[in-house]
Amino acid sequence: MIRAEPAHAELLAAMHARCFPDDPWDAQAMREILAMPGSFGFFDERGFAIGYVAADSCDLATLGVLPEARRKGAGRALLEALCAEAKRRGAVAVVLEVAENNTAARNLYAKSGFSVEGFRKNYYRDSSSALLMRRRI
Ligand SMILES: CC(C)(COP(=O)(O)OP(=O)(O)OC[C@H]1O[C@@H](n2cnc3c(N)ncnc32)[C@H](O)[C@@H]1OP(=O)(O)O)[C@@H](O)C(=O)NCCC(=O)NCCS
Repeated sequence: MIRAEPAHAELLAAMHARCFPDDPWDAQAMREILAMPGSFGFFDERGFAIGYVAADSCDLATLGVLPEARRKGAGRALLEALCAEAKRRGAVAVVLEVAENNTAARNLYAKSGFSVEGFRKNYYRDSSSALLMRRRI
């Protein structure tokens, strides 16, 4: 897995657009998040994961696996890499928001040790709600 740097912004934005066609992040947005203090990420030819550590908690900002690479363990591997690096950086937990109707992601997180800690009604642009999930690391 390769460490994501601002110089990878174009490539990561192209991957993000394939994973999130309804809400793609452009290269500028990707560059900004990767330049934020505490931010870090990983990617390979299958997908990417980006997070940032603030105090003793890590937020999972985005995680995506290209459609043709799904259901072969890449999502889980990226998530584990992110959790390990978050721990190395001093975080004691990883938190994330996931759309209530995103069964694939919810299953992945549940299987990876995350539990539901909250609910955010009408959280997304399409007015769907989000679950807040957390895992101690
Ligand atoms: C969610 C996502 C990252 C999962 O990536 P992936 O590489 O397919 O996941 P994995 O192969 O590591 O799957 C791990 C587990 O997650 C669950 N899972 C993954 N895809 C699933 C699906 N389509 N339906 C039901 N469960 C699914 C399963 O429990 C799976 O374990 P199993 O294959 O042993 O049954 C991928 O579907 C994706 O990029 N989706 C679009 C972007 C997105 O929603 N990102 C998350 C935003 S919060």
